[in-house]
Amino acid sequence: MWAYKKQLQYPINIRNKDLKMAKFIVTQFGGANGELGASLRYITQRYTMPDNKGKALLSDIGTEELSHLEMISTMVIQLTKDATIKELKEAGLEAHYTEHGFSLFPVDSNGVPFTAQYFAVTGDPVADLAEDMAAEQKARATYEHLMSLTEDPDLLAPLSFLRQREIVHYARFKELYDEYVEKYYKPDLNENPSM
Ligand SMILES: [Fe+2]
Repeated sequence: MWAYKKQLQYPINIRNKDLKMAKFIVTQFGGANGELGASLRYITQRYTMPDNKGKALLSDIGTEELSHLEMISTMVIQLTKDATIKELKEAGLEAHYTEHGFSLFPVDSNGVPFTAQYFAVTGDPVADLAEDMAAEQKARATYEHLMSLTEDPDLLAPLSFLRQREIVHYARFKELYDEYVEKYYKPDLNENPSM
């Protein structure tokens, strides 16, 4: 179960409307390297981790990613607050408006909708943790790309916080990955006669 705290993990107070940045940042909601995919991937993978340590780590990080999803959603909503149709058109958001009005929808910055394929669950703890480490690095890179597209300090501060969390998550996954490789990884097919 989850206990909900009615408070963002990091405060979001964006003063300047910026529809183009909203269009780009939404990828961290519904894109391949975004927070929705990360959180659902981890809280799904956790059931097939081989011990309680792995299950707990995946639950912890999957839960934190949900709070990052909330931050990203808040950023997009604040960036588009009081937008006019003319401003939407100038930012290339007419198609989004046609389908979803001013609401959020999980898409990437090209408008490609979220897919369950982003979960990337194999049931093999070493393969899944390798996926998770790559996912954290891709999320870090995406946050860096977003940071290079804006000079607004109201955006840079939360983006920098989120980038930093991806670095911490990568380190925590790598620590568990190294432990599981030691314990469970059998790369020599001769050790597995059923193959
Ligand atoms: Fe993360």
